[in-house]
Amino acid sequence: MNKQFVTLGVTGGIAAYKAADLCSKMVQCGYEVQIIMTESATKLVGERTFLTLSHRPVITSLWDVPEWRPEHVALAEHADLLVVAPCTANFIGKYTHGIADDALSTCALAHRGTVLLAPAMNPNMWHHPAVQNNIKLLAARNVEFIGPEIGHVACGDDGTGRMAEPADILTKIKTLLNCP
Ligand SMILES: Cc1cc2nc3c(=O)[nH]c(=O)nc-3n(C[C@H](O)[C@H](O)[C@H](O)COP(=O)(O)O)c2cc1C
Repeated sequence: MNKQFVTLGVTGGIAAYKAADLCSKMVQCGYEVQIIMTESATKLVGERTFLTLSHRPVITSLWDVPEWRPEHVALAEHADLLVVAPCTANFIGKYTHGIADDALSTCALAHRGTVLLAPAMNPNMWHHPAVQNNIKLLAARNVEFIGPEIGHVACGDDGTGRMAEPADILTKIKTLLNCP
């Protein structure tokens, strides 16, 4: 049986280190995982961590892929699911408004299947009307969300903004892919 293929986008939130755990769990569950990191994400976690855990080259740019076919088009056709974890306020804004200025945002617009976002940010950012309006627009487009959760965030504040735990994101992925 073919493995299910999931694109895991990692954006520049401090919870990017938790995406490594999520990636590892997904691979152990038998999914093929293609990581796409934003430039900000690469400042927080090393590309090699994801290369090692996913057993595949990490995509960090639209321009460094040797294939004749643009990677975002090939991936969009191939992926059963696109997950973005952690998902920054910036990515939410770009995806809501159709901006495609890097590998992940371009792949997201080309993707026709289910999209799952795991937002993670400072509570003030999460409660900002711009972010909340964007979330409403995306929910109306049937984009799936998990979290954010209430708790302590890395910048020292308490409130809503923590990324959902990797184990819970994995459970949601299995549900969306109809896996036991
Ligand atoms: C140390 C550090 C941690 C950050 N953590 C977050 C975060 O948790 N959530 C968020 O939305 N932005 C966070 N930011 C800001 C984003 O990195 C910034 O908005 C960036 O433009 C996001 O780019 P991306 O969406 O392409 O990854 C953080 C910035 C720094 C320097």
